Amino acid sequence: MSKTTNENSRRSFITNLTKGVIGASMIPAVVTAKDRKRNLEDLIRSGQNYSANDQLQIALIGAGGMGTADTNTAITVPGIKLIAVCDLYDGRLADAKKKWGNDIATTRDYREILERKDIDAVIIATPDHWHKDISVAAMNSGKSVYCEKPMVHDITEGPAVIAARNKNKVIMQVGSQGLSSLGNEKARQLLKDGAIGKLNYAEGFWARMSPTGAWQYPIPEDASAQTVGWDTFVANTKKRPFDATRFFRWRNYRDYGTGVSGDLFVHLFSSLHFVTGSIGPDKIMATGGLRYWKDGREVPDVMLGMFDYPETQVHPAFNLSLRVNFVDGTGGTNYLRMVGSEGSMTVEWDKVTVYRNSKNIDANDPLAKSNMPAAGGKEYVYDRKSMSMISPDKTEYAAAEGYKGAHFDHFYNWATAIRNNGSVVEDPLFGYHAAAPALLCNDSYFNNKIMQWDPVNLKVINNKS
Ligand SMILES: NC(=O)c1ccc[n+]([C@@H]2O[C@H](COP(=O)([O-])OP(=O)(O)OC[C@H]3O[C@@H](n4cnc5c(N)ncnc54)[C@H](O)[C@@H]3O)[C@@H](O)[C@H]2O)c1
Repeated sequence: MSKTTNENSRRSFITNLTKGVIGASMIPAVVTAKDRKRNLEDLIRSGQNYSANDQLQIALIGAGGMGTADTNTAITVPGIKLIAVCDLYDGRLADAKKKWGNDIATTRDYREILERKDIDAVIIATPDHWHKDISVAAMNSGKSVYCEKPMVHDITEGPAVIAARNKNKVIMQVGSQGLSSLGNEKARQLLKDGAIGKLNYAEGFWARMSPTGAWQYPIPEDASAQTVGWDTFVANTKKRPFDATRFFRWRNYRDYGTGVSGDLFVHLFSSLHFVTGSIGPDKIMATGGLRYWKDGREVPDVMLGMFDYPETQVHPAFNLSLRVNFVDGTGGTNYLRMVGSEGSMTVEWDKVTVYRNSKNIDANDPLAKSNMPAAGGKEYVYDRKSMSMISPDKTEYAAAEGYKGAHFDHFYNWATAIRNNGSVVEDPLFGYHAAAPALLCNDSYFNNKIMQWDPVNLKVINNKS
């Protein structure tokens, strides 16, 4: 990224600050109302009436926790109607009829859903190891797809999903809903406008401390080889005898899940890539361990990842540090922060908080001084004593009351793209750019090696070493 771009960006942020109209010009969907006293700006969407004159008929494949949440949100988007549900556990199919009506068709076989001509699109919320196969089959059947994150279970599976999207006239969106939020959109604009100067570092974490937070889900009393379609569950992976724990707590096992990085880092990558315009890191290192949840799981409950992002046309080189801790006594929080030469911002789905140095250049900053043209040949003398701390200004940008939230926005964007034959941000290429470094954390952790990834040509460079 050139110095000029950064300087222009900073000027643009400052000009907007003076006018008090941040946001109004860059992304028309976000407007702000300023409360100067509290240093708070309300984020509001404008120009969306959410009406629809044509109906999209959808089906859900994988009706567990997230599939249910996805569907409950999707059907609040005007014009979306759920007509069928597929799941491998009979209890979930019975629940689907209770929740969404007796006229909903139910099946254990997703291929029956894909054969139906009256279904326009599917939500795929199965465990990770089925994402690629069902997404590709759905697109090849002419269905648009909303597939949960991570887009794929293994790094080798990404190209097949991208190819299926390119081959078929359908929309596919991956389910890291945060990037469609007002908070993420605002952060993207603030970074572009130079609110934190030149980006050099980002960090994020997920902290949890509960059995369900650590994937110890309840196992239904009636779980058995009769009520569960176990053979289908393992059809594309290692065959094993029926195991209810593996089926209902699939995240703990590598055949089906993608560990904490595939489950949670991936959300942070998606938001970070959306805000910065990045396509991903080229160096990936992960470490961690199994500290507490020694319940037979095959994946760590604490993981740290470090990532190098090389300079591109749209952002400078920067470093990223991510962490997941399932034994975090501070409880359930998550966090994404970006740091630049002039400040930092924490990015949430409904809020952005910018901390900015009150002066753009500290008169005592020897580096800034040395970058200035020499004043009358006088040499600058570094004087440690005169350096003073500059207290940062804090500005909050928060979603106004009534905001429908990231999840709604994500489904609304998906439905709009399907109706208009448009496009979505989190398409298969974006989804792969976010999934790849998350999946490579597992390769780094389990093989004790630094992974090199080429995010342009979508290739692991040191796969064979
Ligand atoms: N976007 C988010 O915030 C978010 C949050 C949670 C989970 N997720 C993602 O959603 C997906 C599902 O997670 P979950 O927590 O809902 O899991 P879950 O175990 O609650 O639900 C998965 C469901 O899929 C069914 N299933 C398994 N294999 C199937 C197959 N081949 N065909 C049809 N149904 C099948 C299971 O019976 C189960 O009901 C995962 O990929 C996860 O990463 C995303």
